[in-house]
Amino acid sequence: MGFTMGLNLLLLMAMVATNILSLYHLSSTIQTPKSPAPQPVPDHLIHQLHTIRATINHLTRHHPSPPATTKAAKPTIPSDLLLYSQLSPIASSCHNHPELLHKYMTYTPFSLCPLDSDLAESLTLRGCHPLPRRRCFTKTPPKPTSSLPQDPFPSSLPDANVLWTKYSCKSFSCLNRQNLNLGFDPPHEVVNFMTYKSELDLPIPQLFQIAKAANSVLRLGVDIGGGTGSFAARMKLYNVTIITTTMNLGIPNNEVVALRGLVPIHAPLQQRLPVFDGVMDLVRCGHAVNRWIPVTALEFLLFDADRVLRGGGYLWLDHFFSKGADLDKVFGPLIGKLGYRKVKWATASKNDSGGLKNGEVYLSALLQKPVSK
Ligand SMILES: *[C@@H]1O[C@H](CO)[C@@H](O)[C@H](O)[C@H]1NC(C)=O
Ligand SMILES: *[C@@H]1O[C@H](CO)[C@@H](O)[C@H](O)[C@H]1NC(C)=O
Repeated sequence: MGFTMGLNLLLLMAMVATNILSLYHLSSTIQTPKSPAPQPVPDHLIHQLHTIRATINHLTRHHPSPPATTKAAKPTIPSDLLLYSQLSPIASSCHNHPELLHKYMTYTPFSLCPLDSDLAESLTLRGCHPLPRRRCFTKTPPKPTSSLPQDPFPSSLPDANVLWTKYSCKSFSCLNRQNLNLGFDPPHEVVNFMTYKSELDLPIPQLFQIAKAANSVLRLGVDIGGGTGSFAARMKLYNVTIITTTMNLGIPNNEVVALRGLVPIHAPLQQRLPVFDGVMDLVRCGHAVNRWIPVTALEFLLFDADRVLRGGGYLWLDHFFSKGADLDKVFGPLIGKLGYRKVKWATASKNDSGGLKNGEVYLSALLQKPVSK
């Protein structure tokens, strides 16, 4: 609140300053009676006037209550943030993290950006999305290979195309040694989504059969929390376009989705999908979507999935996990609110140590959106 107040005050001061400046310029433009054809008002002044109007609108729309307690050391606002708050949208929750935002906006314009994609992600994960734009050059890998794979399941991924500085591992083989299931070994991913080991699995050929039998075509979809994009990779081989939302969380997920020739969307789970209403054939939620998401946030997530799905489209909850009792009392009814047809609804106890300790179960569900509400 104090930050908003401070920002508004600064905006006000900036507005007054530019106002006086513009009035001076404008009046000096007008007060040149000797010139036969009066000079037209320069574009940058028109632009300034627009900015002033926008600022006035901004200030009159928002009436922040006075700050409860004024904290001692408030970071001053970097000038670029001040400028960009007028030029591109910034999520309002950015204002809840002034220190991080200040750090992010502390850079030298027109030179190399700090290596701070992890900072950007921290802000994003806290709901500060969209982040303000900056005017600096993002560092890219110094010696990338130009022979990028066409196949989304290449035999290996090129180390040279990732900036490893910000990661503890410095190569894909290191990541694979840590955990082969992280998705950084494409040959290991080939079998994913293709085999039926338990009722919880829905092999992609079966998914296509289900859709075909229902006379529903699959061409476009979103994979929410899709890691390194293996679902999109497999679907690409079926000529289906899947965009993958994925966060890095200390490993190069976004880079790898892109290296596989797929579309990475760097958006957190609480973000409205950057897709128009009713245009998707399929939304898949991998097990990043699970009981750790607050119930209200999950409800918004599901309703946003509903928003982007066309009538007859499919929502696939793939290995959603929760406590057994909560599935019956909380999550089952929550999913039921969508009013979708249950094409598949399979549950099984989660047998890993965490699952056994917490009495967790998996749910894999394929749900079809009704054609009309
Ligand atoms: C995908 O498209 C290509 C090119 O049109 C075609 O040769 C291939 O058979 C298609 N694959 C599938 C699984 O439909
Ligand atoms: C966990 O073990 C039970 C009992 O053996 C089995 O029925 C269930 O399918 C297992 N769950 C998974 C996810 O494999």
